[in-house]
Amino acid sequence: MSQPRDNWSSNVGLVLAATGSAIGLGNLWKFPFITWENEGGAFVLVYLICILAVGLPIMMAELLIGRRSQKSAVGALKEAAGPWWGIVGGWGVLAGFILLSYYTVIAGWSLYYFAQSIGWTFGGYPAGMAAGDLFNEQVGNAGLQLALSLSFSIATIAVVYFGVSKGIERIARIFLPILFGILLLLLVSALGMSGSGEAMRFIFRANFAELEMSGVLEALGHSFFTLSLGMGAMITYGSYISRKQSIVKASGAIVALDTLIALVATVIMFSVIFSVAGMSDQVSGSPVGMLFISLPELFYTAVPFGVVLGPLFYVLVALAALTSTISLLEVVSSYVIDEHRLSRPKATVLCGGAIFVFTIFAALSFTGTPFLATLEIFAGKVGWFSTVDHFVSNWMLPTGGFAITLAAGWFMTRNATERELVDGTEPRWFHYGAWRFFIRWVAPIAVGAIIVAVMLGRDFS
Ligand code: PHE
Repeated sequence: MSQPRDNWSSNVGLVLAATGSAIGLGNLWKFPFITWENEGGAFVLVYLICILAVGLPIMMAELLIGRRSQKSAVGALKEAAGPWWGIVGGWGVLAGFILLSYYTVIAGWSLYYFAQSIGWTFGGYPAGMAAGDLFNEQVGNAGLQLALSLSFSIATIAVVYFGVSKGIERIARIFLPILFGILLLLLVSALGMSGSGEAMRFIFRANFAELEMSGVLEALGHSFFTLSLGMGAMITYGSYISRKQSIVKASGAIVALDTLIALVATVIMFSVIFSVAGMSDQVSGSPVGMLFISLPELFYTAVPFGVVLGPLFYVLVALAALTSTISLLEVVSSYVIDEHRLSRPKATVLCGGAIFVFTIFAALSFTGTPFLATLEIFAGKVGWFSTVDHFVSNWMLPTGGFAITLAAGWFMTRNATERELVDGTEPRWFHYGAWRFFIRWVAPIAVGAIIVAVMLGRDFS
């Protein structure tokens, strides 16, 4: 049974859906946190260079591999580079499976904080409540954790169930403009706060004396995570691009928007943190801390119009996470649809259900459950959640991304890639020879450096 392939309805639809995949918890909790840890400025500059030199060329490579074959990750890589490359596609599908299983847990927290903040807006923020206690209470409550992540999983399945144009694209078209709007409101409010100047200096004034080698590599690793690269998500989304649409233009827009949003989110959070005396010391060494411990309280004590902006902010986190989780589920389901010939509704429910079984493990690893809370395969990464996050971020995405640069740069012919990128739709700034140089040399060497560094024991999760 062969079903006609669903396509994005327009270039805008593609850009919004792919940007929705890229913008997620990576932008809202991971990036601000690693920027904080690496002392801002120089780190941000290096990250921007990584995005341009590695992220952008690989984005084009993944989209073109997908469009050329009109197949999802496994089939597309086989067709692009040879039968053995199906293994790389399978590696990506597995990465998507695992990544989605734990990403959903943090996504679920945004639902909780949304509900709480609505309560605070109308009932007042409980005086004297320590935000850290509230956080520990919610992560420690097994029933609550399961309910939150189950709700999020159902939402994800419901969108993917309706397919590419009627499900994924439609949701992205509605949610992304809302997300941009909320972020703009937050930015305006944050820039009016007393700490905004210090925040800008922290983020944009480069001081290379503060940057360590590990920070350079961390910037590179994060550029994969944040752009949804290295595991076939963009290959899959690329397979729904029609011949009339420009891969180069779309890549430019996706990368630019994702980067802009990460910077804006960081400016907002740091402006708030620097505005409150003593807060910068209090922001603990945990990314979850900044988003779910420091901020909730600050919205109700320090931010102008915080009673409105607080709930809006947690809606923003939930929307950003949802447009990422649907792309993760799409990688897995579309593989089952294309390679095992299941119908979309069946494939979506089956894959979503199978992934949720592992979500249970991730959710329960915060509740003191034996084994799940204590498992330690990688030194210092205690519990199921941290273990799988470490494995995906540090091993699966970089190795997958490295393989994709080889497929596009060395195993596909010049002719094949040139035909996809230079088709009369490309913008004037694009130079095919430059892309080819980056995908053959710059990107694999840089990514190879991460992998070697990880082998030597560095941690990028
Ligand atoms: N890019 C997403 C984020 O920043 C995470 C993601 C990775 C989504 C890989 C899909 C595929 O949160």
